[in-house]
Amino acid sequence: MNLGATLTAPLLLVFAALSRAYVPARATDSEYDAEAAGQNFTDPSRLVLSWWPDEPGAPGQVSHQVSGRNSTGVNRGAFVHFSEDNLLNGTTTAPWIAWISCDESNTTSPYPDTDIFTLAYERGANAAVLYSLESLTCYLTSDYSKSAKANPTLDIYITQSLGVSRWVDAQFKQRIPTDLLSNHSSFDPKVLNSSAHTIEEAFPDNAIPKRGYIIASLYASVNGTLANQGSSNTTGTGTSAPAETSSNIATSMTSRVGSFSQRAGWLIAVLVGTYIM
Ligand SMILES: *[C@@H]1O[C@H](CO)[C@@H](O)[C@H](O)[C@H]1NC(C)=O
Ligand SMILES: *[C@@H]1O[C@H](CO)[C@@H](O)[C@H](O)[C@H]1NC(C)=O
Ligand SMILES: *[C@@H]1O[C@H](CO)[C@@H](O)[C@H](O)[C@H]1NC(C)=O
Ligand SMILES: *[C@@H]1O[C@H](CO)[C@@H](O)[C@H](O)[C@H]1NC(C)=O
Ligand SMILES: *[C@@H]1O[C@H](CO)[C@@H](O)[C@H](O)[C@H]1NC(C)=O
Ligand SMILES: *[C@@H]1O[C@H](CO)[C@@H](O)[C@H](O)[C@H]1NC(C)=O
Ligand SMILES: *[C@@H]1O[C@H](CO)[C@@H](O)[C@H](O)[C@H]1NC(C)=O
Ligand SMILES: *[C@@H]1O[C@H](CO)[C@@H](O)[C@H](O)[C@H]1NC(C)=O
Repeated sequence: MNLGATLTAPLLLVFAALSRAYVPARATDSEYDAEAAGQNFTDPSRLVLSWWPDEPGAPGQVSHQVSGRNSTGVNRGAFVHFSEDNLLNGTTTAPWIAWISCDESNTTSPYPDTDIFTLAYERGANAAVLYSLESLTCYLTSDYSKSAKANPTLDIYITQSLGVSRWVDAQFKQRIPTDLLSNHSSFDPKVLNSSAHTIEEAFPDNAIPKRGYIIASLYASVNGTLANQGSSNTTGTGTSAPAETSSNIATSMTSRVGSFSQRAGWLIAVLVGTYIM
């Protein structure tokens, strides 16, 4: 038995784990692998982005992978990139949602033992959305998936296609004014704190009062029905706007190919929801 090789292999593994940001997810081009790992491509849960001064944008289909402990199925907040690259410390009480890449990064992580979702949660995030700009989709590692389901903190979603991921990621540069781009496209607790009022004012109707953040709304599918879209409240139980059924959504919403060409259908759906309320 070669003792040298026996000792080196685990050391290399430890080194690899220490030298890379700890995102407990993998990117994949295989629908099969993603599904085997719990991704659900027919989950009609949705991510809707809004920005000043337009109407809410088109929805992208996302899978709801982990339900946060206090989840109502609806999350809203400023939508920002979150990664371990130059990660700022500090928390914010402004509602925010983390946009997290599952593509491999060569960043040296200062937090080898803490997963990215915990880092986001500790900084006040109410939900996280995983995406890949290189592969079809992401999936959570099975260890993380098990521990998150046993002890959930925030809601975790995953985009269902490369097209949706790229479209969403491109909106930061397109929608945030250039002078605000560096401060409003990634997590910064000071900037979030100073924008808390503006972010909350954007609820409940996604009318953004001022330039700055992109606001994300996430609607989870619960038993085939989308969580209440009229809820103005990330922690409460929401109001009485009618929920849509997944069959309505399937006919009026985007497919997971990632086309956003059915924007008109969604805008009408939003307007109807608002009107009935
Ligand atoms: C995927 O989501 C759909 C719609 O919510 C649901 O009907 C189906 O049972 C889910 N599939 C799995 C494997 O969870
Ligand atoms: C954040 O805090 C950690 C642990 O206290 C520290 O190692 C790290 O350097 C801090 N990061 C910044 C950007 O201040
Ligand atoms: C943001 O505001 C909260 C609540 O006032 C405070 O606890 C937190 O320390 C602030 N964060 C920063 C980075 O100043
Ligand atoms: C990370 O490092 C590997 C090996 O050096 C390289 O092949 C890969 O392109 C790097 N990835 C990024 C995102 O820089
Ligand atoms: C859920 O809400 C309770 C009561 O507000 C709070 O103490 C707890 O920290 C919350 N749990 C999570 C995971 O956010
Ligand atoms: C970005 O935010 C920092 C505080 O985190 C502030 O000092 C800086 O002036 C801001 N930059 C712009 C362009 O607003
Ligand atoms: C969803 O279905 C499960 C099993 O049928 C049921 O226990 C649960 O109460 C339902 N949830 C809602 C929100 O209807
Ligand atoms: C959110 O919901 C909770 C519980 O229903 C309620 O007490 C609270 O006032 C609501 N907050 C807002 C801003 O509507």
